[in-house]
Amino acid sequence: MAIDRTGLVGRDFIETLDWTVEEIDEALAVSGELKAAFRNGEPHRLLPDKTLFMLFLDKSTRTRNAFESGMTQLGGHAIYLDAEKTQVAHGESPKDMGVILSRYGHGLAIRHDLAPYEGNAWMREIARWADIPVINLQCDVDHPTQTIADLMTLREHRGTDLRGLRVAVSWAYAPSYAKPLSVPQGLATLLPRFGIDVVIAHPPGFELMPEVMERAEAAAAAAGTTITVTHDMDEAFADADVVYPKSWGRLDAFRDEATALAESGAFRDWICDARRMSLAKSDALYMHCLPADRGSEVTDDVIDGPHSVVYDEAENRMHTGKALMALTMGGFGG
Ligand code: CP
Repeated sequence: MAIDRTGLVGRDFIETLDWTVEEIDEALAVSGELKAAFRNGEPHRLLPDKTLFMLFLDKSTRTRNAFESGMTQLGGHAIYLDAEKTQVAHGESPKDMGVILSRYGHGLAIRHDLAPYEGNAWMREIARWADIPVINLQCDVDHPTQTIADLMTLREHRGTDLRGLRVAVSWAYAPSYAKPLSVPQGLATLLPRFGIDVVIAHPPGFELMPEVMERAEAAAAAAGTTITVTHDMDEAFADADVVYPKSWGRLDAFRDEATALAESGAFRDWICDARRMSLAKSDALYMHCLPADRGSEVTDDVIDGPHSVVYDEAENRMHTGKALMALTMGGFGG
């Protein structure tokens, strides 16, 4: 049943678990409408004269540009901030950030994802003091604007009823940097609520945050779906409808990235290549949030091949981001 769109005005979007299935469904419905409007060249200035502050404590290609261009299309203005260009670098408090930015604008979006057990708590503290909605652009716990775009992409390719779908979320080797755990954790907390069975594969030592996985398993149990964990990438891929292999750092080693990356080299064979894709269903989808370490996490023939939907995922970051801004910042009144 559709919900009242004005009921989401002022709401934070910090983890997908903070929103009901019905609220996420509504956000996806709006995303579809805005995607059609964008493609048809129809103006949809739902947020004229509104300002979104985007505070990034990490790099970004997709997230920044999806939200910034999305806000332009909605008729508002997005301001890019980082730690060094603000007093965050000098230790300005979350309370002062939340209160003061609320006096200037209408929404606050934050990325703070590289330090386990810091980012989520920091943005929740800002949200406690802010009078405007806070959107999580990736933290240590969740990447909700990514996973809602992934859910939109799955529906576009596999239909609205995703019950029984088996999605393999696997660790993969990457030498570039210790990637946050928030994407696999976010997939585990979101997809089972929409009928999807999730299999998580990783080498020993690359466990996800135990308290996040407890919440994911509780949500899956409530939805009648499953989350299973294996240390065998082939086993996860076997008969999968969707594979989502990506790297993440070792939870106990983020402060010593060089050592952690060197040690993870023992698992170089955790790559998504044509042989592994052949273990999955013949029409399986290959997904990745990007950026991908080509040649390490995935071979070019897979990421550029017929199974891949990575550019649809990246595009849907903008349409879902616009829906989240429009709903929480008053684009439908309220
Ligand atoms: N997927 C994603 O969040 O990409 P960026 O890090 O480039 O924003």
